[in-house]
This record gives sequence, structure tokens and C-alpha cells, in this order.
Amino acid sequence: MSVERTLAIIKPDAVAKGVAGTILARIEADGFKILGIKMLRLSAEQASGFYAVHKERSFYRSLCTFMTQGPSVVIVLEADNAIQRWRDLMGATDPANAAAGTIRKEFASSIEANAVHGSDAPATAAFEIPYFFSALELWAR
Ligand code: CMP
Repeated sequence: MSVERTLAIIKPDAVAKGVAGTILARIEADGFKILGIKMLRLSAEQASGFYAVHKERSFYRSLCTFMTQGPSVVIVLEADNAIQRWRDLMGATDPANAAAGTIRKEFASSIEANAVHGSDAPATAAFEIPYFFSALELWAR
């Protein structure tokens, strides 16, 4: 196992529900170190650039609109095996398929408004982390 970093987003639906703090507490209780955190409302350009990998998908336009509807909390997490561990804690993309005890099972409303995001692979994390954070904004030992 190696120490990894991953990008997490608490999406506008979860922030609007008032569960951002609860989700952050779950992240900390699970042993992730928070290296960087900020709250921002994505612009249309920022959302479409972040999700550009999905631009041919039928849900792309709707997803980008959803992500700009209110503030998100973007977070850089560090842990052993952080990418898979955060994905396990989030649960399946569609909350209907998410396991009991996962964040999406508890807080997601739909496959689109699914409360949280996480990088799906090391190459994705390497794109997503600097999308939001400069090196100087990340806590370092
Ligand atoms: P996320 O993990 O942020 O990655 C891409 C996002 O697209 C996903 O979470 C959902 O918010 C959204 N998404 C994925 N599949 C669908 C779908 N079939 N319909 C609507 N939104 C989707």
C-alpha cells in the first residue's frame, strides 16, 4: 500500500442539505488527512472543464448545471490507498446501488445529485487536485 492523495468534493446538494460538516467528520473518523479544503461555487466553465471526460455523455449538460447551482466543498485527502478507500466510503455512484453505511446511501438524492465526488484513479487525481489547488495551498509535513 502506498500513501496517495485524492480529490473529494462535497457537492451542492449535500452542502444545501447542511450535511457538509457531517461528511467531513466521517472523512476524519475514517483516518484521512485533510491537506487542503475550500468552499466555492463552480462557474459553468469550471464545471465543464472538470467533467470534460464526460462531455459525450447524455448527462453532461445537466451534471454541469447541477454542479454550478450552489457552493461545493473541495478537499484534498491523503491516506494509504486513499483513492479506493474514499470511493468505498462514498459508495456506488447511484445511491440506489450504494451499500449501507456509505455516504451516498445516507445523503445522496439521485445518480446526479449524489452528494460527493472522488477521483477514480491516480491519473484522475493528478488532473483533479491541481484543478483546484496550487502546491502552496496543500498542507505538507
Ligand atoms: P461523480 O463521481 O462526480 O462522477 C461523474 C458524475 O456524473 C457522477 O458522480 C454523477 O453525479 C453524474 N452521473 C453519472 N452517471 C449519471 C447518469 N447516468 N445520469 C446523471 N448523472 C450521472
